[in-house]
Amino acid sequence: MKVEHIGIAVQSLEEADRLFSILFKKTPYKHESVESEAVKTSFYQMGETKVELLEATADTSAIARYVEKKGSGMHHIAFEVEDIREEMERLKKEGIRLLNDEPKRGADQKMICFLHPKDCGGVLVELCQTIQEA
Ligand code: CO
Repeated sequence: MKVEHIGIAVQSLEEADRLFSILFKKTPYKHESVESEAVKTSFYQMGETKVELLEATADTSAIARYVEKKGSGMHHIAFEVEDIREEMERLKKEGIRLLNDEPKRGADQKMICFLHPKDCGGVLVELCQTIQEA
């Protein structure tokens, strides 16, 4: 549907917030920890889309491994979909590998699924669907 957000891996959220607040001329609209992913995040609204900064909170986090290998930088691009399960099913049939078989809970009221970067032109792609709270 649209680019929902762009994920940037950082070493220190505090330092990155300082930098990006200057670059974007605005403060993050939220900070959120996602324990299952061992990350803490901050979100900036940039018009229609958002920027998500991610700092690892444990060595086991995918973000920790990424930052260790490559340093801070662009980590993933997230596309919003209407029905994440349907889209996962569709892409799987097309031979795209999913990094999780079931949608998992992400930050910012989302169900998410990552696609294998090797099947997406070297880009880590996240699918996300907004959770409608009753
Ligand atoms: Co994300």
